[in-house]
Amino acid sequence: MSAANRKVLNVLNGATVSPPPIWLMRQAGRYLPEYRQTRQQAGSFLDLCYSPELATEVTLQPIRRYAFDAAILFSDILVIPDALKRNVRFTEGHGPQMDPIDADGISGLSENGILDHLKPVMQTVSRLRQALPQETTLLGFCGAPWTVATYMIAGHGTPDQAPARLFAYQHPDAFLRLLDFLADVSADYLVAQIDAGADAVQIFDSWAGVLGEAEFEKFCVRPVARIIRSVKSRRPSAKIIAFAKGAGVMLKTYRQKTRADAIGLDWSVPLSFAADLQKDGPVQGNLDPMRVVAGGAALTEGVDAILQALGNGPLIFNLGHGITPQANPDHVTDLVNQVRRNG
Ligand code: CP3
Repeated sequence: MSAANRKVLNVLNGATVSPPPIWLMRQAGRYLPEYRQTRQQAGSFLDLCYSPELATEVTLQPIRRYAFDAAILFSDILVIPDALKRNVRFTEGHGPQMDPIDADGISGLSENGILDHLKPVMQTVSRLRQALPQETTLLGFCGAPWTVATYMIAGHGTPDQAPARLFAYQHPDAFLRLLDFLADVSADYLVAQIDAGADAVQIFDSWAGVLGEAEFEKFCVRPVARIIRSVKSRRPSAKIIAFAKGAGVMLKTYRQKTRADAIGLDWSVPLSFAADLQKDGPVQGNLDPMRVVAGGAALTEGVDAILQALGNGPLIFNLGHGITPQANPDHVTDLVNQVRRNG
């Protein structure tokens, strides 16, 4: 079997594949007992991200269990602020924390040494491409500038990213400089992942949904378009999925303006609208992760509705956001079986 059989890659090239390929955002994670064990062995979460051996192991765990059609590199979007020496830490029960950045901090940011710091991640990518079955697509990723910037400004997670929204109104020039800087660094990082063996990459803009129309254009569309333009100018065959959570009706122009090959859909995107978006190109999504926690009829009905609406076009089956720690691993088995049986 060769790369030609990589179903996720084929969908990214515009093909309709039946049944559709499936992978899940956050598929390596705390819902799996084997992840929790390796996580404990690693010490801190960032130690796990920077250990090529252990990061490879946790990436492969869900592939062994479920034979997903894609593996996603195990890392985090916040390794970029970590490489920028923002003192990133993940403490149990607190989510991510780092030193909040201000306008002075933004003017002092430097690209020096970032890719050196991230070398272990590229080593993980190379190991993964060697270790994975030929037919499994290997995905690299980065955070979108807006989403990464929200954590850098606040210094921690917030319910609505009010600190970054406020900073952007008060310091528009510094904020745009931060987004451009992150876009350029992220493009270099994605190119490095592709060169190390990633078949395609995903850009996570998990906080796109908290912005008004004008800000969505400036803070999400423009920086993601800048990343994609930069990556594709250097690696013209690169395939890129863009996931802008909560972008809703804005997704129609988002694909055209960013030139993403596929767009990720969260579960709030109506399936009729998703089918319309699919006429312009491949879509990925969009099962509510809570249906995987619930299992049973909630799971079956959700999967069926997606297959019915989107199964006859280019679709990568996925959740509408990351799988949660409460998900039952047996429900994931049911999900995969149902997609492969009925899709
Ligand atoms: O999808 C995968 O399996 C690949 C790995 C991956 C992780 N984070 C592992 C992780 C990916 C692609 C991410 C992306 C990420 N990280 C995003 C964008 C996607 C999304 O889910 O919105 C964001 C916003 C982050 C930042 C982040 N990392 C937060 C807010 C948290 C804490 C929340 C939580 O779930 O605890 C993390 C930690 C994190 N990243 C964990 C994992 C498996 C849990 C930490 C642990 O194991 O202790």
